[in-house]
Amino acid sequence: MTDRPKTAPGQKSRNRQVAEQPDLTTILSSKVVGQPNVINVIIPYVEMFQAGLSPENRPVGVFLLLGPTGTGKTRTVEALAEVLHGSSKNLLKVDCGEFQMEHEVAKLIGAPPGYLGHRETQPMLSQQKLASVTSERSGLSLVLFDEIEKAAPSMTRLLLGVLDRGVLRLGDNSTVNFEKSLVFLTSNLGAKEMMREINPDFGFQSATTGASREDVSDKLQSIALMAVRKKFSPEFVNRIDHVITYQPLNAESFAAITDHEIASLQNHVNTRLGTRCFNIEVPFETRQWLIERGTSAEYGARELKRTIHKNLTQPLATMVAKNQVEPGTRVRVEVGKDRESLELRSTGPGETSAPAHPTVLLVDDNRDLLQFLQRLMAESGWELLAAENASEARKIVAKRKPNAALLDYMLPDGNGVELAQQLRGMMPKLPIIMMTGSVLGPEEEAICEEHDFPVLRKPFLATDVMNQIRARITAKTKTGR
Ligand SMILES: Nc1ncnc2c1ncn2[C@@H]1O[C@H](COP(=O)(O)OP(=O)(O)OP(=O)(O)O)[C@@H](O)[C@H]1O
Ligand SMILES: [Mg+2]
Repeated sequence: MTDRPKTAPGQKSRNRQVAEQPDLTTILSSKVVGQPNVINVIIPYVEMFQAGLSPENRPVGVFLLLGPTGTGKTRTVEALAEVLHGSSKNLLKVDCGEFQMEHEVAKLIGAPPGYLGHRETQPMLSQQKLASVTSERSGLSLVLFDEIEKAAPSMTRLLLGVLDRGVLRLGDNSTVNFEKSLVFLTSNLGAKEMMREINPDFGFQSATTGASREDVSDKLQSIALMAVRKKFSPEFVNRIDHVITYQPLNAESFAAITDHEIASLQNHVNTRLGTRCFNIEVPFETRQWLIERGTSAEYGARELKRTIHKNLTQPLATMVAKNQVEPGTRVRVEVGKDRESLELRSTGPGETSAPAHPTVLLVDDNRDLLQFLQRLMAESGWELLAAENASEARKIVAKRKPNAALLDYMLPDGNGVELAQQLRGMMPKLPIIMMTGSVLGPEEEAICEEHDFPVLRKPFLATDVMNQIRARITAKTKTGR
């Protein structure tokens, strides 16, 4: 087995970040925290597919993901689905635990003709199923075989065909082509031995007490490789492009994941409740409390979501259901005196007076984006004032005095940063957000920093824009800036 791809994928070109190209690495790193090696290995294969340079007669890439529980193996594939297709559901997941017996493998490929009921056994893997997890954005399908070591041996043989020739033969003798698929295999192989390394108090004797993170990481990698070689035949292992070992997460990563979970809860509140939304305020101490309860060396961040759900989301939902939260207010979440639970307190109406129906100026010559955001904002009760160039934008601001402005950097008659400064001259307190598909020059970066124009890199999710605008308007209301 080699740790290098057999077909060397194109080196990531920094230049490709200009124009409207998504910076996959940045987006994926924000979703899968503390595993930079993983992202650096996977992204070149995606880029190779996007460039039309993937090899024929085999999947675009085959990865075996190993490592301690709750470190982001499954999350990686879900996050990639979000980035490529806009939803974590755009992924074909095969739970190998369901195929432990030889006869169960028929569920995967359908029964051969002649078998009783073969017409009724729809194969789990079919060309249509693969196509159904692609999207308009990307034709790359993501296939995840979870807990591969649990599957019956015949499943491993079937997989061998997929990994080797990119083809799966179904029960009815038709074939499924995997040339436009990334295949992920996950396994708990070596997980116990890894725990021994990570957590010496876990009833085992640790060989690496006091070892550096690099040492532990090397050790985990070799444990993983050894376990893989023991379990799978060399021909199977040889067809895997990369065996990726996930590292235990550190305190910084746990904090980043917690922040991310709280931000997506806020996002959810904003999109679900629309004009009735409110701000959730979670101070540092509360975040620490959630991290202490939701994370461990044993389970990684696996319990974090549940901890947040139980202690924050559910009590919040109860408050909303009981009409205890006024739209536009704040809910502050603090650690209770007994330190056993969290206390949620609504600040009541009037503390914030951000407009419930803001008027937002959007300047971009991309009509599709204008129309899309206009529709979306209208659904939330916002009014969008659209301009395709700088001069139209100035006229609108003079007349309509919007609550916030969203400006594209590249405009047909100038650049967005200059326009932003002019608009501030007209309305000194106007919250302005820049959008760009490229990298701003250092001077422009400095101007944005000085004037507090946050920069959103394209592509972004519509909810990110809405949240940025909301946050800016609320901040302006609170600070009076
Ligand atoms: N590196 C990470 N970045 C972001 N979130 C993570 C990360 N690791 C774990 N999480 C959080 O923990 C949850 C569980 O992680 P995940 O399902 O990816 O674990 P896993 O590595 O697949 O574990 P297992 O071996 O038990 O299947 C995720 O839904 C996510 O909320
Ligand atoms: Mg998993």
